[in-house]
Amino acid sequence: MRRTSVKKRRKTDRVTRRILVLHGPNLNLLGSREPDIYGRATLEDVNRRLTAAAAAAGAEVQCFQSNHEGELVDRIQQAGREGVGFIVFNPAAYTHTSVALRDALAAVRIPFIEVHLSNIHAREPFRRRSYFSDLAAGTICGLGTQGYELALAYALVRAASEPRD
Ligand code: DQA
Repeated sequence: MRRTSVKKRRKTDRVTRRILVLHGPNLNLLGSREPDIYGRATLEDVNRRLTAAAAAAGAEVQCFQSNHEGELVDRIQQAGREGVGFIVFNPAAYTHTSVALRDALAAVRIPFIEVHLSNIHAREPFRRRSYFSDLAAGTICGLGTQGYELALAYALVRAASEPRD
């Protein structure tokens, strides 16, 4: 009998090719919200570009935005159950306040990149503290919407080095 050496993936195994893009509070207003700081692209523009880039690389991106901390916690826990392999996360104002979101990411142990459109180190002092940076695979800030694309590119390179599910 021929034995296969390919290990079967369990439902809960991580699949890096499945990527979650998570946006925190007020990012639904991108495009009209303080455009001098956050730019003119809308959240829909950002999500559309990321979805297209992922599809071109044979990956799947799910995008989720919420103004509510608990909903973001729920979405992270769901990602853990779904076997999402990587998260691109802009926690927005929760960056500077949320132990609950930090704990959710620590619990599911999904690698993530923390993204900020603006350079949080060049703004008000309270924005310099992040509850996420030390857990993150990396952080990107100050590069506008390009930051999301660079984070996705990193996730896709990681995905390419992993076996297909
Ligand atoms: C932000 C920076 C945060 O300080 C702010 O609260 C945001 C957006 C950014 O993308 O630059 O809402 O995360």
